[in-house]
Amino acid sequence: MLRFVVIFLSLALLHTAEAKDLRRVTEPKIPAACSSLVGSGKEETSVIQKALDSCGKGKAVRLASGTFISGPLTIPSGVGLWVDSGATLKASTNPKDYDTGKNTCGTLDSSGGGCKPLITIKDAKGSGIYGKGVIDGQGGQIMTGKGKTWWQLAAEPRPSNMNQNCPRLVQMVDSEDITLYLITLKNAPKFHIASSTTNGFTAWGINIITPSNAGNTDGIDPIDSQNVTIAHCHISTGDDNVAIKALKKPVRHVSIFNNVFGTGHGMSIGGGVNAGVSDVTVTSLTLDGTTNGLRIKSDKSRGGLVTGVSYTNVCMHNVKNPIRLDTHYTNDPGNLIPVYKDISFNNITVLTPGKFTLDGFSATDPVEVTFNNVRVKRGSTWVMSHAKVKGKYTEDATGTHC
Ligand SMILES: *[C@@H]1O[C@H](CO)[C@@H](O)[C@H](O)[C@H]1NC(C)=O
Ligand SMILES: *[C@@H]1O[C@H](CO)[C@@H](O)[C@H](O)[C@H]1NC(C)=O
Repeated sequence: MLRFVVIFLSLALLHTAEAKDLRRVTEPKIPAACSSLVGSGKEETSVIQKALDSCGKGKAVRLASGTFISGPLTIPSGVGLWVDSGATLKASTNPKDYDTGKNTCGTLDSSGGGCKPLITIKDAKGSGIYGKGVIDGQGGQIMTGKGKTWWQLAAEPRPSNMNQNCPRLVQMVDSEDITLYLITLKNAPKFHIASSTTNGFTAWGINIITPSNAGNTDGIDPIDSQNVTIAHCHISTGDDNVAIKALKKPVRHVSIFNNVFGTGHGMSIGGGVNAGVSDVTVTSLTLDGTTNGLRIKSDKSRGGLVTGVSYTNVCMHNVKNPIRLDTHYTNDPGNLIPVYKDISFNNITVLTPGKFTLDGFSATDPVEVTFNNVRVKRGSTWVMSHAKVKGKYTEDATGTHC
Protein backbone atom coordinates (compact mmCIF):
# COMPACT_ATOMS: atom_id res chain seq x y z
CA MET A 1 0.00 0.00 0.00
CA LEU A 2 2.73 2.42 1.07
CA ARG A 3 4.71 1.56 -2.04
CA PHE A 4 1.67 2.44 -4.19
CA VAL A 5 1.30 5.74 -2.40
CA VAL A 6 4.99 6.54 -2.94
CA ILE A 7 4.80 5.65 -6.63
CA PHE A 8 1.62 7.68 -7.03
CA LEU A 9 3.15 10.68 -5.27
CA SER A 10 6.35 10.58 -7.27
CA LEU A 11 4.39 10.33 -10.52
CA ALA A 12 2.28 13.28 -9.41
CA LEU A 13 5.42 15.28 -8.57
CA LEU A 14 7.07 14.31 -11.84
CA HIS A 15 4.04 15.57 -13.71
CA THR A 16 4.04 18.89 -11.84
CA ALA A 17 7.78 19.27 -12.43
CA GLU A 18 7.33 18.87 -16.18
CA ALA A 19 4.35 21.14 -16.63
CA LYS A 20 6.53 24.00 -17.73
CA ASP A 21 9.34 25.05 -20.03
CA LEU A 22 11.97 22.33 -19.54
CA ARG A 23 14.88 24.65 -20.27
CA ARG A 24 16.51 26.52 -17.45
CA VAL A 25 15.46 30.03 -18.40
CA THR A 26 16.96 33.08 -16.72
CA GLU A 27 16.82 36.77 -17.62
CA PRO A 28 18.38 37.15 -21.09
CA LYS A 29 21.29 39.50 -21.88
CA ILE A 30 21.72 41.83 -24.82
CA PRO A 31 24.56 40.53 -27.02
CA ALA A 32 27.54 42.72 -27.93
CA ALA A 33 27.07 44.92 -31.01
CA CYS A 34 28.64 43.91 -34.32
CA SER A 35 27.69 47.29 -35.80
CA SER A 36 25.81 50.40 -34.79
CA LEU A 37 23.43 52.39 -37.00
CA VAL A 38 21.76 55.78 -36.64
CA GLY A 39 18.35 56.19 -38.26
CA SER A 40 17.91 58.83 -40.95
CA GLY A 41 14.10 58.87 -40.77
CA LYS A 42 14.06 57.41 -44.28
CA GLU A 43 13.59 53.96 -45.77
CA GLU A 44 16.60 51.83 -44.77
CA THR A 45 15.60 48.20 -45.33
CA SER A 46 18.71 47.22 -47.28
CA VAL A 47 21.07 49.04 -44.90
CA ILE A 48 19.69 47.10 -41.93
CA GLN A 49 19.52 43.81 -43.83
CA LYS A 50 23.16 44.15 -44.97
CA ALA A 51 24.27 44.81 -41.40
CA LEU A 52 22.32 41.75 -40.19
CA ASP A 53 23.76 39.54 -42.93
CA SER A 54 27.34 40.51 -42.12
CA CYS A 55 26.95 40.31 -38.33
CA GLY A 56 28.81 37.49 -36.55
CA LYS A 57 26.91 34.81 -34.66
CA GLY A 58 26.34 35.74 -31.02
CA LYS A 59 26.34 39.46 -31.81
CA ALA A 60 23.65 42.00 -32.62
CA VAL A 61 23.11 44.88 -35.03
CA ARG A 62 22.43 47.88 -32.83
CA LEU A 63 19.96 50.51 -33.98
CA ALA A 64 21.44 53.15 -31.71
CA SER A 65 19.14 56.13 -32.18
CA GLY A 66 16.80 57.86 -34.63
CA THR A 67 13.98 56.52 -36.75
CA PHE A 68 14.39 53.76 -39.31
CA ILE A 69 11.70 52.90 -41.85
CA SER A 70 11.83 49.36 -43.13
CA GLY A 71 10.08 46.71 -45.17
CA PRO A 72 10.57 42.98 -44.48
CA LEU A 73 13.78 41.96 -42.71
CA THR A 74 15.22 38.51 -41.99
CA ILE A 75 17.29 37.93 -38.90
CA PRO A 76 19.92 35.27 -39.66
CA SER A 77 20.68 32.32 -37.41
CA GLY A 78 22.58 33.30 -34.27
CA VAL A 79 22.23 37.04 -34.91
CA GLY A 80 20.37 39.66 -32.88
CA LEU A 81 18.59 42.88 -33.73
CA TRP A 82 19.08 45.37 -30.89
CA VAL A 83 16.78 48.39 -30.99
CA ASP A 84 18.24 50.61 -28.31
CA SER A 85 16.26 53.10 -26.22
CA GLY A 86 15.69 56.19 -28.33
CA ALA A 87 15.60 54.22 -31.60
CA THR A 88 12.39 53.39 -33.46
CA LEU A 89 12.02 50.90 -36.27
CA LYS A 90 8.88 51.80 -38.21
CA ALA A 91 7.26 49.36 -40.59
CA SER A 92 6.83 50.66 -44.12
CA THR A 93 3.20 51.47 -44.91
CA ASN A 94 3.54 50.28 -48.51
CA PRO A 95 1.80 46.89 -49.05
CA LYS A 96 3.98 46.28 -52.14
CA ASP A 97 7.04 46.02 -49.88
CA TYR A 98 5.55 42.95 -48.18
CA ASP A 99 3.82 41.28 -51.12
CA THR A 100 4.45 37.54 -51.47
CA GLY A 101 4.02 37.72 -55.24
CA LYS A 102 0.26 37.63 -55.72
CA ASN A 103 -0.25 41.36 -55.46
CA THR A 104 -2.76 40.81 -52.67
CA CYS A 105 -0.99 42.38 -49.68
CA GLY A 106 -3.26 45.19 -48.46
CA THR A 107 -6.43 43.58 -49.88
CA LEU A 108 -9.04 41.03 -48.79
CA ASP A 109 -8.95 37.51 -50.25
CA SER A 110 -9.66 33.92 -49.26
CA SER A 111 -6.06 33.05 -48.29
CA GLY A 112 -4.96 35.92 -46.08
CA GLY A 113 -1.32 34.94 -46.69
CA GLY A 114 -0.40 37.69 -49.14
CA CYS A 115 2.08 39.62 -46.99
CA LYS A 116 5.50 38.75 -45.64
CA PRO A 117 6.04 39.64 -41.96
CA LEU A 118 8.06 42.70 -41.04
CA ILE A 119 10.63 40.49 -39.28
CA THR A 120 11.19 36.82 -40.14
CA ILE A 121 13.31 34.41 -38.11
CA LYS A 122 13.43 31.12 -40.01
CA ASP A 123 15.54 27.97 -39.62
CA ALA A 124 17.51 29.92 -37.04
CA LYS A 125 19.11 29.05 -33.74
CA GLY A 126 19.86 31.56 -31.00
CA SER A 127 18.58 34.65 -32.82
CA GLY A 128 16.76 37.44 -31.02
CA ILE A 129 15.34 40.92 -30.81
CA TYR A 130 16.55 43.05 -27.91
CA GLY A 131 16.58 46.51 -26.42
CA LYS A 132 14.41 49.23 -24.92
CA GLY A 133 13.55 50.79 -28.29
CA VAL A 134 10.34 50.52 -30.27
CA ILE A 135 9.19 48.55 -33.28
CA ASP A 136 6.10 50.29 -34.63
CA GLY A 137 3.96 48.37 -37.14
CA GLN A 138 2.03 51.53 -38.12
CA GLY A 139 -1.23 49.57 -38.40
CA GLY A 140 -3.24 52.76 -37.93
CA GLN A 141 -1.49 54.62 -40.76
CA ILE A 142 -2.90 54.89 -44.30
CA MET A 143 -1.44 52.22 -46.60
CA THR A 144 0.37 53.65 -49.60
CA GLY A 145 -2.02 53.77 -52.56
CA LYS A 146 -4.97 52.29 -50.64
CA GLY A 147 -6.62 55.26 -48.92
CA LYS A 148 -7.20 53.27 -45.72
CA THR A 149 -5.24 51.84 -42.84
CA TRP A 150 -4.32 48.18 -42.23
CA TRP A 151 -6.77 48.15 -39.31
CA GLN A 152 -9.58 49.64 -41.44
CA LEU A 153 -8.98 46.84 -43.95
CA ALA A 154 -9.17 44.29 -41.11
CA ALA A 155 -12.49 45.80 -39.93
CA GLU A 156 -14.19 45.85 -43.35
CA PRO A 157 -17.43 43.88 -43.49
CA ARG A 158 -17.01 40.80 -45.69
CA PRO A 159 -18.09 37.18 -46.14
CA SER A 160 -16.60 34.80 -43.55
CA ASN A 161 -14.24 33.18 -46.08
CA MET A 162 -12.46 36.46 -46.80
CA ASN A 163 -9.39 37.48 -44.83
CA GLN A 164 -7.32 40.60 -44.67
CA ASN A 165 -3.79 40.44 -46.04
CA CYS A 166 -1.77 42.36 -43.47
CA PRO A 167 1.80 41.72 -42.31
CA ARG A 168 2.58 40.17 -38.96
CA LEU A 169 5.24 42.03 -37.01
CA VAL A 170 7.54 39.16 -35.94
CA GLN A 171 7.29 35.63 -37.32
CA MET A 172 9.45 32.70 -36.22
CA VAL A 173 9.42 29.46 -38.21
CA ASP A 174 11.26 26.16 -37.61
CA SER A 175 13.68 27.75 -35.19
CA GLU A 176 15.37 27.04 -31.87
CA ASP A 177 16.13 29.15 -28.82
CA ILE A 178 14.82 32.50 -29.95
CA THR A 179 14.73 35.44 -27.53
CA LEU A 180 12.72 38.65 -27.41
CA TYR A 181 13.95 40.85 -24.59
CA LEU A 182 12.76 44.28 -23.36
CA ILE A 183 11.60 45.45 -26.76
CA THR A 184 8.37 47.44 -27.20
CA LEU A 185 6.17 46.35 -30.10
CA LYS A 186 3.24 48.48 -31.09
CA ASN A 187 0.53 48.96 -33.68
CA ALA A 188 1.00 45.66 -35.50
CA PRO A 189 -1.07 45.44 -38.72
CA LYS A 190 -1.85 41.82 -37.69
CA PHE A 191 -0.34 39.50 -34.99
CA HIS A 192 2.60 40.98 -33.08
CA ILE A 193 4.58 37.79 -32.47
CA ALA A 194 3.96 34.29 -33.80
CA SER A 195 6.30 31.39 -33.15
CA SER A 196 5.58 28.52 -35.54
CA THR A 197 7.25 25.15 -34.93
CA THR A 198 9.90 26.73 -32.73
CA ASN A 199 11.45 24.84 -29.85
CA GLY A 200 12.82 27.17 -27.21
CA PHE A 201 11.28 30.63 -27.31
CA THR A 202 11.59 33.26 -24.59
CA ALA A 203 9.74 36.58 -24.43
CA TRP A 204 11.05 38.41 -21.37
CA GLY A 205 10.23 41.95 -20.23
CA ILE A 206 8.65 43.00 -23.51
CA ASN A 207 5.81 45.49 -23.97
CA ILE A 208 3.02 45.26 -26.49
CA ILE A 209 0.88 48.37 -26.85
CA THR A 210 -1.86 48.46 -29.48
CA PRO A 211 -5.44 49.82 -29.33
CA SER A 212 -8.27 47.51 -28.26
CA ASN A 213 -10.17 48.04 -31.52
CA ALA A 214 -7.31 46.98 -33.83
CA GLY A 215 -8.62 43.68 -35.24
CA ASN A 216 -6.58 40.46 -35.18
CA THR A 217 -3.60 41.99 -33.42
CA ASP A 218 -2.77 39.02 -31.14
CA GLY A 219 0.07 39.74 -28.72
CA ILE A 220 2.12 36.53 -28.54
CA ASP A 221 1.03 33.33 -30.30
CA PRO A 222 3.07 30.22 -29.52
CA ILE A 223 2.00 27.91 -32.38
CA ASP A 224 3.14 24.28 -32.76
CA SER A 225 6.02 25.15 -30.41
CA GLN A 226 7.60 23.66 -27.28
CA ASN A 227 9.68 24.98 -24.39
CA VAL A 228 8.21 28.45 -24.32
CA THR A 229 8.59 31.09 -21.60
CA ILE A 230 6.67 34.37 -21.49
CA ALA A 231 7.70 36.38 -18.42
CA HIS A 232 7.58 39.92 -17.06
CA CYS A 233 5.67 41.24 -20.09
CA HIS A 234 2.97 43.92 -20.39
CA ILE A 235 0.50 43.20 -23.18
CA SER A 236 -2.38 45.47 -24.27
CA THR A 237 -3.84 44.80 -27.67
CA GLY A 238 -6.95 44.27 -29.84
CA ASP A 239 -7.17 40.46 -29.84
CA ASP A 240 -5.79 37.61 -27.70
CA ASN A 241 -3.03 38.88 -25.40
CA VAL A 242 -1.55 35.38 -25.67
CA ALA A 243 -2.98 32.55 -27.79
CA ILE A 244 -1.49 29.06 -27.72
CA LYS A 245 -2.38 27.02 -30.81
CA ALA A 246 -1.52 23.44 -31.80
CA LEU A 247 -2.34 23.10 -35.48
CA LYS A 248 0.22 20.61 -36.87
CA LYS A 249 2.44 19.86 -33.88
CA PRO A 250 1.63 19.56 -30.18
CA VAL A 251 2.38 22.47 -27.88
CA ARG A 252 4.00 21.39 -24.61
CA HIS A 253 6.01 22.86 -21.77
CA VAL A 254 4.92 26.45 -21.65
CA SER A 255 5.67 28.75 -18.67
CA ILE A 256 3.88 32.06 -18.45
CA PHE A 257 4.72 34.07 -15.31
CA ASN A 258 4.72 37.58 -13.83
CA ASN A 259 2.80 39.20 -16.67
CA VAL A 260 0.27 42.04 -16.81
CA PHE A 261 -2.42 42.13 -19.49
CA GLY A 262 -4.38 45.32 -20.25
CA THR A 263 -6.94 45.41 -23.06
CA GLY A 264 -7.27 42.34 -25.25
CA HIS A 265 -9.13 39.06 -25.50
CA GLY A 266 -7.22 37.36 -22.70
CA MET A 267 -4.94 34.45 -21.88
CA SER A 268 -6.12 32.00 -24.52
CA ILE A 269 -5.57 28.47 -25.69
CA GLY A 270 -7.13 27.77 -29.11
CA GLY A 271 -9.08 27.95 -31.43
CA GLY A 272 -6.93 25.26 -33.15
CA VAL A 273 -5.86 22.62 -30.61
CA ASN A 274 -6.15 19.58 -32.88
CA ALA A 275 -2.47 18.59 -32.39
CA GLY A 276 -2.84 18.75 -28.58
CA VAL A 277 -1.81 21.19 -25.86
CA SER A 278 -0.33 20.06 -22.54
CA ASP A 279 1.88 21.12 -19.66
CA VAL A 280 1.12 24.81 -19.53
CA THR A 281 1.55 26.80 -16.32
CA VAL A 282 0.31 30.34 -15.94
CA THR A 283 1.49 31.94 -12.69
CA SER A 284 1.19 35.45 -11.29
CA LEU A 285 -0.90 37.09 -13.96
CA THR A 286 -2.91 40.30 -13.64
CA LEU A 287 -5.64 40.97 -16.17
CA ASP A 288 -7.20 44.41 -16.06
CA GLY A 289 -9.73 45.36 -18.72
CA THR A 290 -9.52 42.31 -20.98
CA THR A 291 -12.77 40.96 -22.45
CA ASN A 292 -11.87 37.37 -21.46
CA GLY A 293 -9.59 36.18 -18.69
CA LEU A 294 -8.48 32.54 -18.70
CA ARG A 295 -9.87 31.06 -21.86
CA ILE A 296 -9.78 27.79 -23.77
CA LYS A 297 -11.73 27.96 -27.01
CA SER A 298 -12.20 25.38 -29.70
CA ASP A 299 -14.86 23.49 -31.61
CA LYS A 300 -15.36 20.30 -33.57
CA SER A 301 -13.64 21.68 -36.67
CA ARG A 302 -10.28 21.93 -34.84
CA GLY A 303 -10.62 20.37 -31.39
CA GLY A 304 -8.19 18.05 -29.58
CA LEU A 305 -6.88 17.28 -26.12
CA VAL A 306 -5.95 20.16 -23.83
CA THR A 307 -4.58 18.83 -20.55
CA GLY A 308 -2.16 19.61 -17.73
CA VAL A 309 -2.95 23.31 -17.64
CA SER A 310 -2.68 25.21 -14.37
CA TYR A 311 -3.49 28.81 -13.56
CA THR A 312 -2.08 30.01 -10.23
CA ASN A 313 -2.09 33.40 -8.47
CA VAL A 314 -4.22 35.24 -11.01
CA CYS A 315 -6.00 38.51 -10.27
CA MET A 316 -8.65 39.96 -12.58
CA HIS A 317 -10.39 43.30 -12.59
CA ASN A 318 -12.92 44.57 -15.10
CA VAL A 319 -12.95 41.32 -17.11
CA LYS A 320 -16.28 40.34 -18.73
CA ASN A 321 -15.62 36.59 -19.00
CA PRO A 322 -13.06 35.76 -16.31
CA ILE A 323 -13.05 31.99 -16.92
CA ARG A 324 -14.32 30.74 -20.26
CA LEU A 325 -13.84 27.12 -21.29
CA ASP A 326 -15.75 26.78 -24.52
CA THR A 327 -15.97 23.75 -26.81
CA HIS A 328 -18.47 25.36 -29.21
CA TYR A 329 -16.45 28.38 -30.30
CA THR A 330 -17.88 28.19 -33.84
CA ASN A 331 -20.47 25.98 -35.55
CA ASP A 332 -18.01 24.88 -38.24
CA PRO A 333 -18.47 21.22 -39.15
CA GLY A 334 -16.00 18.45 -38.24
CA ASN A 335 -15.39 15.54 -35.90
CA LEU A 336 -12.40 16.82 -33.92
CA ILE A 337 -13.79 16.87 -30.40
CA PRO A 338 -12.34 19.41 -27.96
CA VAL A 339 -11.48 17.65 -24.68
CA TYR A 340 -10.27 19.75 -21.75
CA LYS A 341 -9.13 17.87 -18.67
CA ASP A 342 -6.75 18.31 -15.75
CA ILE A 343 -7.28 22.07 -15.86
CA SER A 344 -6.66 23.63 -12.45
CA PHE A 345 -7.42 27.05 -11.05
CA ASN A 346 -5.50 27.94 -7.89
CA ASN A 347 -5.71 31.16 -5.92
CA ILE A 348 -7.73 33.05 -8.50
CA THR A 349 -9.27 36.38 -7.46
CA VAL A 350 -11.83 38.13 -9.63
CA LEU A 351 -12.66 41.59 -8.27
CA THR A 352 -15.57 42.56 -10.56
CA PRO A 353 -18.66 40.50 -11.47
CA GLY A 354 -18.47 38.57 -14.72
CA LYS A 355 -19.76 35.60 -16.64
CA PHE A 356 -18.07 32.24 -16.03
CA THR A 357 -18.48 29.49 -18.62
CA LEU A 358 -17.58 25.80 -18.36
CA ASP A 359 -19.01 24.32 -21.52
CA GLY A 360 -18.02 20.70 -22.13
CA PHE A 361 -18.62 19.04 -25.48
CA SER A 362 -20.95 16.25 -24.30
CA ALA A 363 -21.77 13.99 -21.37
CA THR A 364 -19.04 11.60 -22.58
CA ASP A 365 -16.52 14.41 -23.10
CA PRO A 366 -17.05 16.86 -20.25
CA VAL A 367 -14.57 19.56 -19.23
CA GLU A 368 -12.75 18.52 -16.05
CA VAL A 369 -11.50 21.28 -13.79
CA THR A 370 -10.25 21.71 -10.24
CA PHE A 371 -10.92 24.82 -8.20
CA ASN A 372 -8.67 25.61 -5.28
CA ASN A 373 -9.19 28.99 -3.62
CA VAL A 374 -11.17 30.59 -6.44
CA ARG A 375 -12.77 33.81 -5.21
CA VAL A 376 -15.19 35.71 -7.38
CA LYS A 377 -17.30 38.79 -6.91
CA ARG A 378 -20.90 38.46 -5.77
CA GLY A 379 -23.30 39.00 -8.68
CA SER A 380 -21.32 36.91 -11.18
CA THR A 381 -23.13 34.43 -13.42
CA TRP A 382 -22.17 30.82 -14.14
CA VAL A 383 -23.01 28.76 -17.20
CA MET A 384 -22.06 25.11 -16.71
CA SER A 385 -22.81 22.35 -19.13
CA HIS A 386 -21.07 18.94 -19.18
CA ALA A 387 -18.61 20.12 -16.55
CA LYS A 388 -16.92 18.04 -13.84
CA VAL A 389 -15.73 20.37 -11.13
CA LYS A 390 -13.56 19.37 -8.16
CA GLY A 391 -13.51 21.94 -5.38
CA LYS A 392 -15.63 25.07 -5.16
CA TYR A 393 -15.54 28.73 -5.85
CA THR A 394 -16.61 31.28 -3.28
CA GLU A 395 -18.37 34.60 -3.90
CA ASP A 396 -16.31 36.59 -1.47
CA ALA A 397 -13.74 38.49 -3.52
CA THR A 398 -13.06 41.93 -2.08
CA GLY A 399 -10.79 44.79 -3.08
CA THR A 400 -10.83 47.44 -5.76
CA HIS A 401 -7.67 46.72 -7.70
CA CYS A 402 -5.22 43.88 -8.28
C1 LIG B 1 12.83 21.13 -24.23
O1 LIG B 1 13.91 21.41 -23.38
C2 LIG B 1 14.53 20.24 -22.81
C3 LIG B 1 15.57 20.74 -21.81
O2 LIG B 1 16.49 21.60 -22.41
C4 LIG B 1 15.12 19.41 -23.95
O3 LIG B 1 15.69 18.23 -23.41
C5 LIG B 1 14.03 19.05 -24.94
O4 LIG B 1 14.58 18.37 -26.04
C6 LIG B 1 13.32 20.31 -25.43
N1 LIG B 1 12.21 19.94 -26.27
C7 LIG B 1 12.16 20.28 -27.55
C8 LIG B 1 10.98 19.76 -28.30
O5 LIG B 1 13.00 20.96 -28.10
C1 LIG C 1 -2.67 34.68 -4.42
O1 LIG C 1 -2.61 35.45 -5.63
C2 LIG C 1 -2.33 36.84 -5.42
C3 LIG C 1 -2.39 37.49 -6.79
O2 LIG C 1 -3.67 37.40 -7.29
C4 LIG C 1 -1.00 37.01 -4.75
O3 LIG C 1 -0.77 38.38 -4.50
C5 LIG C 1 -0.96 36.22 -3.45
O4 LIG C 1 0.33 36.26 -2.90
C6 LIG C 1 -1.33 34.75 -3.73
N1 LIG C 1 -1.40 34.02 -2.46
C7 LIG C 1 -0.63 32.98 -2.24
C8 LIG C 1 -0.86 32.29 -0.91
O5 LIG C 1 0.22 32.56 -3.03
